[in-house]
Amino acid sequence: MKTIRKISQDIYYLGVSDRRLALFENLFPLDNGVSYNSYFIDDEKTALTDTVDRYVADPFFENLESLLGGRQLDYLIVHHMEPDHAANIGRLLEMYPQLKVVASAKGHQMLKQFFNVDLGDRAISVKDGDSLSLGKHTLNFVTAPMVHWPEVILSYESHTGTLFSADAFGAFGALDGRIFNDEDVVDENWYNEARRYYANIVGKYGMQVQAALKKAAALDIKMIAPLHGPVWRSNIGDLLEKYQLWSKYQPEQQGVLIAYASMYGNTENAANALALALADRGVKNMDVRDVSVTDLSEMISLAWKYSHIVIASPTYNLALHPKMEHLLMDMKALNLQNRTVALIENGSWAPAVIKNATEIFSSMKNISIMEENISIKSALHDLAPIEKMAEAIVADLNK
Ligand SMILES: Cc1cc2nc3c(=O)[nH]c(=O)nc-3n(C[C@H](O)[C@H](O)[C@H](O)COP(=O)(O)O)c2cc1C
Ligand SMILES: [Fe+2]
Ligand SMILES: [Fe+2]
Repeated sequence: MKTIRKISQDIYYLGVSDRRLALFENLFPLDNGVSYNSYFIDDEKTALTDTVDRYVADPFFENLESLLGGRQLDYLIVHHMEPDHAANIGRLLEMYPQLKVVASAKGHQMLKQFFNVDLGDRAISVKDGDSLSLGKHTLNFVTAPMVHWPEVILSYESHTGTLFSADAFGAFGALDGRIFNDEDVVDENWYNEARRYYANIVGKYGMQVQAALKKAAALDIKMIAPLHGPVWRSNIGDLLEKYQLWSKYQPEQQGVLIAYASMYGNTENAANALALALADRGVKNMDVRDVSVTDLSEMISLAWKYSHIVIASPTYNLALHPKMEHLLMDMKALNLQNRTVALIENGSWAPAVIKNATEIFSSMKNISIMEENISIKSALHDLAPIEKMAEAIVADLNK
């Protein structure tokens, strides 16, 4: 039974949504599932762009066979060799003995690494400026190294103005039949999930994403067909705008993330007191999260969203609470930049959070640490420093 949709003249979506997988890359929670997108171009020559994850291979192959209707598959375009899209290449090569595989030189090298095959003259290596004519449709290739992995290419189909964008412009979330952005798919929740996907998966490579965006700006894009999430056929500028901010490490909002850890509730109390003091002063863009119960990927997404981050943590063996340390190290690993940070430490005998957190933030780019840091000995008994910190944050937000 085929489960496909036409996305434009002769181009079909044959991706599959997975609502069973708990963790993407065995790491990121998938509360709303995920889609693996693949596209088929029906022309004088038949072409398939990428495959899907191994867990959803069966419906994918049924779709492909129904689209081919007994014809040979001529080309497989491999935009990205990560197994969530490349898992079925080995099976495809066996099924379609004439199939030619189009990828970057690095992509072909990885294909060998994963599948231990020598494609010989079935391999076509492409670089910037190369193109492949299928008949009416022509694919123009653009390299996009590190827009997740080093071998990544994008392709622009010039007849329909479709950009096959690999992992760029993707998002977590299964597609509920409505595969287009304008089918009531894109709302604030969707952007939150798209940001969680972007920041955690490609966030580290902002410079490379910027380079890819510059190449894309030269194209007349009418549709964006990513490897995850909806196909964009309208309001493409909105999505590009978010990608500009995210990849430049510019906050989406002037606002505050209060990230806290707490064992006995005292640091939590201080975090809550600060949130109330900020709200009293009119701050609306604000989220308060306990790092022990909020997934790290969600914390990272919020750090990407807001301009100001408050870190409130008890001291743990002369260091940060382990969950908080993990968050700070991940922010650093993902290259988060251009944020203002305030610190609240707690300790019963030798508080060490301000010192440790300052060291980590100082080693990151353009993170300014406020002067109004607070040191608590076991429990908060005086609101004055909290009020002072709130005043300073509000003044900074309104700058
Ligand atoms: C395993 C463990 C290690 C700790 N290490 C330190 C420490 O090195 N220095 C310190 O001042 N307090 C240390 N503490 C004490 C807590 O940081 C302190 O009691 C703090 O007030 C707890 O805040 P909370 O109520 O938000 O959990 C430690 C507590 C635990 C459970
Ligand atoms: Fe990827
Ligand atoms: Fe992917």
